[in-house]
Parts: sequence; C-alpha cells; structure tokens
Amino acid sequence: MAGDQGEGRGVRETSSHPAPKPVARRAFFRTPYGATFSRKREKGFPPSPARGRRLGWGQVLPRLPLLLVAAVARNGVIGSAGGLAWRLASDLKRFKALTMGKPLVMGRKTYQSIGRLLPGRETIVVTRDRSFSPEGALVAHSLEAALALAAERAAAMGADAIVIAGGGQLYAQTIGRASRLAITEVALEPAGDTRFPPIDPEVWREVKRERGVRGPRDEADFAFVEYTKSTHG
Ligand SMILES: NC(=O)c1ccc[n+]([C@@H]2O[C@H](COP(=O)([O-])OP(=O)(O)OC[C@H]3O[C@@H](n4cnc5c(N)ncnc54)[C@H](OP(=O)(O)O)[C@@H]3O)[C@@H](O)[C@H]2O)c1
Repeated sequence: MAGDQGEGRGVRETSSHPAPKPVARRAFFRTPYGATFSRKREKGFPPSPARGRRLGWGQVLPRLPLLLVAAVARNGVIGSAGGLAWRLASDLKRFKALTMGKPLVMGRKTYQSIGRLLPGRETIVVTRDRSFSPEGALVAHSLEAALALAAERAAAMGADAIVIAGGGQLYAQTIGRASRLAITEVALEPAGDTRFPPIDPEVWREVKRERGVRGPRDEADFAFVEYTKSTHG
C-alpha cells in the first residue's frame, strides 16, 4: 500500500493503533569492507554538519581507497626495537602533508612508539587488548572494525582516503587491499626487526618518483615514490 511506504518504515498512525513510542535509536551502517555495525545515538554521533558531512540512517559508506604511507630502507626495514631506525625530518614533513585531514589506522605498537595523537588527523588504534584505551584515540579490536570506523570517520571529515600508518603487521595485513602506496625510500640498510611487505612489481606500478633534497636533520638520502595498483595486477 502506498500509504504504508512513508517515513518510519511503513508504520502508520491511526486512532486504534497509536504510533509506537520512540525507542533508543541506533544508527546502522553498512561499510564497503563487509562489516555492518551500529552505534547508539549519542552526543556528536552521527557527526553534525559543522564537524563534517551528516551521515543518514542506513547510509552506505562510500568505498574509500586505502593509502599505505611508510618509510622503507633498501633492505625493507621500517623499524627497530619499537622505533624508527633513522632520523629523517623531511619524511616526517611529508607524512604530515599526506595524512592531514584523514583518519589514520595504526597498530598498537606504532601508536605507542609515536606516543601521542597527531593533530589534524583522527587516530584509530588496532589492538586485541580490550583494556587498552588511549585518551583521545579511537580503538578497534579487529582490522575489519578499524576499517569500518575509519570509513565512518573519513566520511565525517570529508577525507578522500584512509591512511594505514603502520607498522609492519598492519602493512602486511592491508597491502593486498590497498590502492596506493606512498613510500619514502631510505638509502640505508639498517639492522631492524620490522619490515615492509614486498612490493610486487606484478601488482604495483610506480607512478611518481621524486629525489629528496637532504636537509640538516636528515640522516640519509631518500626518494619519495608513489605506486598505484596496476590494472593487470
Ligand atoms: N618506517 C615507517 O614508516 C614506520 C611506520 C610505522 C611504524 N614503524 C615501526 O614499525 C614498528 C611497529 O610495527 P609492528 O609490526 O611491530 O607493530 P604494529 O603493526 O604497529 O602493531 C602490532 C599490534 O597491533 C595489534 N594488531 C595487529 N593486527 C591486529 C588485528 N588484526 N586485530 C587486532 N589487533 C591487531 C596488536 O596489538 P596488541 O598486541 O595490543 O593486541 C599487535 O601487537 C615500530 O618499530 C615502528 O617504529 C615504522
């Protein structure tokens, strides 16, 4: 019946059937990553237009590209003993430029090695530890939940990508579904315990390479390289 097709999922009020009392409302989201999740309506959620685009009930979040951002040595090393294996101020500047205004998904170890929230970005920490609740960061207990949360936050922030900010475990779990890699090639071969996964030339096409200009706070030469997934990959 056409009259039943209106708002409120076809619930029509008549004198004998008063409209049901509103119950606690939940927002339901389907995400392009296969997860469906709901959250109780609460202050600030769904985000108000002032904080970004308002999300409607049942809105399908857009599929956003995953961008992996990493600094990688010649031998694939990205970290050592829980920290970076070099000092490269130019790379930190580039990381900031690439990630500003976007949600960052990172592993708990990377979050702890950074040790703070990065301004202008939203941090989503992935951990299996249910008691881990860093102040100001969002926490997810699986990769799927982290990507769903990141998609939601990206929509609210008006971001065009979700950034995977490391470390080794997170890069390894997401490179297969990423669409772009922003790699700083570091001209060093340090000892280290954490590596970036192999960048398969059958899958990834180098689309940009820029030789870095070494500054006084850069310990090594470097190049900024971008890859996109090749069409035949
Ligand atoms: N060069 C670079 O660009 C760069 C960038 C980022 C990081 N890094 C370096 O990389 C190193 C850290 O990397 P890492 O591989 O050791 O650790 P990581 O990826 O930062 O974090 C690993 C942790 O994330 C959580 N986790 C991972 N996958 C999960 C999943 N599917 N579900 C739930 N939780 C999950 C677990 O936390 P719980 O143990 O709490 O459960 C796990 O121990 C550091 O040395 C850091 O400095 C380098």
